[in-house]
Amino acid sequence: MAAILSILPHSSCPQNILFHFIASDTANHHHFRYTISRAFTALVFQIYPYDSKAVSGLISSSIRSALDCPLNYARNYLPNLLPHCLRRVVYLDSDLVLVDDMAKLTATPLGDSSVLAAPEYCNANFTSYFTPTFWSNPTLSLTFSGRNACYFNTGVMVIDLQRWRAGDYTTKIVEWMELQKRMRIYELGSLPPFLLVFAGNIAPVDHRWNQHGLGGDNYRGLCRDLHPGPTSLLHWSGKGKPWARIDANRPCPLDAFWAPYDLLQTSSSLES
Ligand SMILES: *[C@@H]1O[C@H](CO)[C@@H](O)[C@H](O)[C@H]1NC(C)=O
Repeated sequence: MAAILSILPHSSCPQNILFHFIASDTANHHHFRYTISRAFTALVFQIYPYDSKAVSGLISSSIRSALDCPLNYARNYLPNLLPHCLRRVVYLDSDLVLVDDMAKLTATPLGDSSVLAAPEYCNANFTSYFTPTFWSNPTLSLTFSGRNACYFNTGVMVIDLQRWRAGDYTTKIVEWMELQKRMRIYELGSLPPFLLVFAGNIAPVDHRWNQHGLGGDNYRGLCRDLHPGPTSLLHWSGKGKPWARIDANRPCPLDAFWAPYDLLQTSSSLES
């Protein structure tokens, strides 16, 4: 809700935005639809049921149990979940706020062949995203050879759905998840299979569109600062979440940027 509330006022043309929500098939979709349309009366949106049972057998436990939730893997299946007439979508995690016009991100050029675009972080230690088992395997360790692979965060992605469907990338991601079940090749949840399939072949996006890590690390959730440079999107990836820290009366300094989009806090002032 905070993410939606942040997108609308910064958009030059909010009436052009169509929201697609992926909801667990066990959720009460009627209640979900009602809640959203009450909060955002003019919002154009669709809700798609997601078969969480289909993916749960593929999920390996990760370093943080919240990452093992089936909905975390919904992004793997977007091209199947969304209508086939859709050509492009911007995937956004729910723990973020935008402070810039969404249309700029949507217009990201994908070049002749990229399936997705995201900010890349070539200074991050790419080796650390995979286990020694992965790097010591003669076949697996060749996965990234000749690709100039860099880390990217999968919470903000511009996706060409047609190219994804044509290349059947969902199957490629699922194959890595099946391998992970047999031998542990990474420790994080849904992110490493994306790196395995796409890293080195993605279109760039300015870092301002994913100021990630504001939730802190995966173990302790310590407060983090912004990366240098301008900010169009703040992303509380990591263990700590601003709504929980604010409720616990222990906010990090940057949580102050999330607070204005907390509908529970601001709804009375919006109504008036
Ligand atoms: C990168 O990470 C790997 C594995 O965690 C570690 O062995 C290596 O020393 C790191 N490299 C640098 C430059 O920090």
